[in-house]
Amino acid sequence: MNKILVTGGLGFIGSHTVVELQNEGFEVVIIDDLSNSSEKVLDGITAITGKKPVFEKLDLKEKSAVEAFFTKHNDVKGVIHFAANKAVGESVKEPLMYYENNVGALVYILKELKKLPAANFIFSSSCTVYGQADKLPITENAEVKQAESPYGNTKQIGEEIIQDTCNAVPSLKAIALRYFNPIGAHESANIGELPLGVPQNLVPFITQTAVGLREQLSVFGDDYPTPDGTCIRDYIHVVDLAKAHVVALQRLLDGSNKSQYETFNLGTGKGSSVLEVVKSFEKVSGEKLNYKIVDRRAGDVISAYADTMKAKNELGWETKLSLDEAMASAWKWEKKVRGK
Ligand code: UD1
Repeated sequence: MNKILVTGGLGFIGSHTVVELQNEGFEVVIIDDLSNSSEKVLDGITAITGKKPVFEKLDLKEKSAVEAFFTKHNDVKGVIHFAANKAVGESVKEPLMYYENNVGALVYILKELKKLPAANFIFSSSCTVYGQADKLPITENAEVKQAESPYGNTKQIGEEIIQDTCNAVPSLKAIALRYFNPIGAHESANIGELPLGVPQNLVPFITQTAVGLREQLSVFGDDYPTPDGTCIRDYIHVVDLAKAHVVALQRLLDGSNKSQYETFNLGTGKGSSVLEVVKSFEKVSGEKLNYKIVDRRAGDVISAYADTMKAKNELGWETKLSLDEAMASAWKWEKKVRGK
């Protein structure tokens, strides 16, 4: 059985990916520092898959701990690297924390992978690398724009570090997956998104408002040049996204990759406005959402959605789940977490 390391495997996208890996028969070892997750997520994964993954609480910023991990697990066949900080606003206030965690830890892992006879690496990247693209839908060839935040910059730098390392290390193969907007939860509601504090992202803010934890959703601007004036994003169900990781990993393990380093957009290809997301939520939940239109949020791009052709043609992967299904699963999860 192929042993796969999933860093950040107790987080939102990480935990859903662990489920899909275990469903496909992979042996999973999770590293997580629990800074934005809980050990209870292991129970959720176990409830869904019937198998408890190995878990090591470890801080990837500690170089010696990373070395010790790979000495112990020198039979790791692939690494999916999720562990990172992801709050845009926080990254502006604490840039060094972001560079240390998102870039430093990446370097330590790659240094260990360099020692292995063969290494396969999947990196969590983001459509944030494109900024406001000149052309929609966004293809993988779109220009990578000057990052808007230290967080965005860590994803750009991370991709460059991986590419440079691939150029220098023939035994390393890597894929960077550029996610659009992941939302939703596993249909069982045993795992889902657990934001710390006030959610910065749209969907957890919607479900927390509806469940009574937040007073009102603020819709950031309705004067954008879009059909209803609100920003457009490509919301992808986290289970579809998780499955793409398994497919990308398998591509590297099979050696069917076209080059040593590849990038793929992961999205649905369909843009939805903020108000369309609100409407979808109201439809599937039967709840009326309390929201108001407020000023634009600094740094928001007007519209971003993926060109999905490369993922479809090369990975043979495309999304299967709809926005309504994603919103229904997010709502089921929120109610379960709050005991409602
Ligand atoms: C944000 C980050 C992006 C990061 C991604 C990770 C910013 C500017 N971008 O993407 O770099 O990769 O999260 O998940 O922070 N909205 C509201 N009210 C809210 C929250 C959001 O109207 O309370 C709107 C936003 O203006 C935006 C849309 O909902 O139009 C989606 O916002 P969000 O979920 O924060 O995702 P992004 O901004 O696309």
